[in-house]
Amino acid sequence: MSEKRINSLVPPEIMRNTFEFSNKMRTLNSERAEKKGRAMYAFVLTFGCQQNEADSEKIAGMARAMGYDMVSTPEEADLIMVNTCAVREHAEKKALSTIGQFKHLKAKNPELMIGVCGCMVTQEHRRDEIKMRYPYVDFIFGTSSLHRFPELLYEKTVKGKRLFCPEEDEYLVAEGLGINRESSYRAWVSIMYGCNNFCSYCIVPYVRGRERSRLMEDIVGEVEALAKDGYKDITLLGQNVNSYAKDSDQGYDFADLMARLSMIEGDFKLHFMTSHPKDASKKLIDVMAENDKIARHFHLPVQSGSDKVLSEMNRHYNKAQYLETVRYIKEKMPDITLTTDIIVGFPGETEEDFEQTLEILKEVRFDMIFSFIYSPRKGTPAAERIEQVDEKVKSERFARLLATQNEISLEKNLPFVGKTVRVLCDGPSKNNDELLSGRTEGNKIVFFAGEKSNEGKYLNIKIDRAEAFALYGEKI
Ligand code: SAH
Ligand code: SF4
Ligand code: F3S
Repeated sequence: MSEKRINSLVPPEIMRNTFEFSNKMRTLNSERAEKKGRAMYAFVLTFGCQQNEADSEKIAGMARAMGYDMVSTPEEADLIMVNTCAVREHAEKKALSTIGQFKHLKAKNPELMIGVCGCMVTQEHRRDEIKMRYPYVDFIFGTSSLHRFPELLYEKTVKGKRLFCPEEDEYLVAEGLGINRESSYRAWVSIMYGCNNFCSYCIVPYVRGRERSRLMEDIVGEVEALAKDGYKDITLLGQNVNSYAKDSDQGYDFADLMARLSMIEGDFKLHFMTSHPKDASKKLIDVMAENDKIARHFHLPVQSGSDKVLSEMNRHYNKAQYLETVRYIKEKMPDITLTTDIIVGFPGETEEDFEQTLEILKEVRFDMIFSFIYSPRKGTPAAERIEQVDEKVKSERFARLLATQNEISLEKNLPFVGKTVRVLCDGPSKNNDELLSGRTEGNKIVFFAGEKSNEGKYLNIKIDRAEAFALYGEKI
């Protein structure tokens, strides 16, 4: 492993460069806007996880600093940014086909700028693919080069030559980039970037680089500002938050960070994701149990219930160790909402291995699971294995997994009927505009009738009906 550092910050002269290009682009854009008689518009499209959502809020923040107004459709935009994901084949296919659809927009408007960034294009073969097959894409940068966005956009706009930003020698943390938050009550806060775990199926360590943590003082400053602005739900992000600050010599860890953030005043809840079971510490669980600022929600991805599969996945825990962590969490916080991730059809997974996964679902009784069919990722060890599970077997197991979990989810939701829960309201439901939706502290979805103006507020909802995926109730 690399030597520990004092911090992993992008050097100030490079950040100055970013801000200089941003200002130049702003000047250019204000001239263009004057000519057009309207503002310059940017559209940011995001694939993938919350970490990517958080990065996109920075991309939008930088776009705003460069004089763009944000719009919600690509058709109106002068600048389109696509922030891609590589975690499964489906995510890459979706991104590529969407980029494909932008070809006709470019044909209609040659001045349109199209940038592609994120995890997918941090892979050499995908960069080459964009270079060759998507000639209308103007510039590309990977996950280590977010802060180079203004420079690339400016250079491409002024000089016209397509730009493929090379990967940085060292992945660092850029502080001070503007953030254009999507919501005024739920916020993402990245506390660290990258991953050192190299689970054998996973592309993330290859496309996000090694772990580097932000300084506690920077995170505290950001959360204090969010609390002051009235944010109610603040989610700390990292691929494995449990290894927060282990890359530095700061002398604090994730549990210390949570304890410190819990001291910030305001009516908000702290969430975090994701936590790797191999180092979810008792210290962290104790800090959670002692602080009611920390949401009673633990997302602890188990991936499989088979010790053989877990070992081949390079997860560094076995079923017994996982169950012991869960036991301790439940002992300290009986009202905890537990969720997990499961992969079905990992290479070499037998029927018995799969049955052990069903078994662990029944033992732990998660409130909810996020389940995925294994997708081979180029360059990862698992993708090289010859014992790939047949597609038909994978989907059959996937269906059985869902059926088992649906029953458990429903059983776990039924006791809420008749109880009152506090919910953070998200406004009108996406599928039924007569209902509002909201989420409990444990992230359970609740539907109820009410005024749109309740969005962003905490409400008390008396539950009168439960389904596997949602609770229904009445505002009191
Ligand atoms: N860092 C997080 C996970 C990030 S990826 C953690 O370790 O928990 C989110 C989820 O995607 C993983 O938990 C895993 O269940 C799933 N996943 C990752 N790679 C995958 C692959 N190649 N095929 C299918 N699912 C995958
Ligand atoms: Fe992927 Fe494992 Fe890292 Fe999570 S911990 S991002 S699953 S390598
Ligand atoms: Fe996808 Fe990258 Fe997240 S691969 S899941 S966007 S870290």
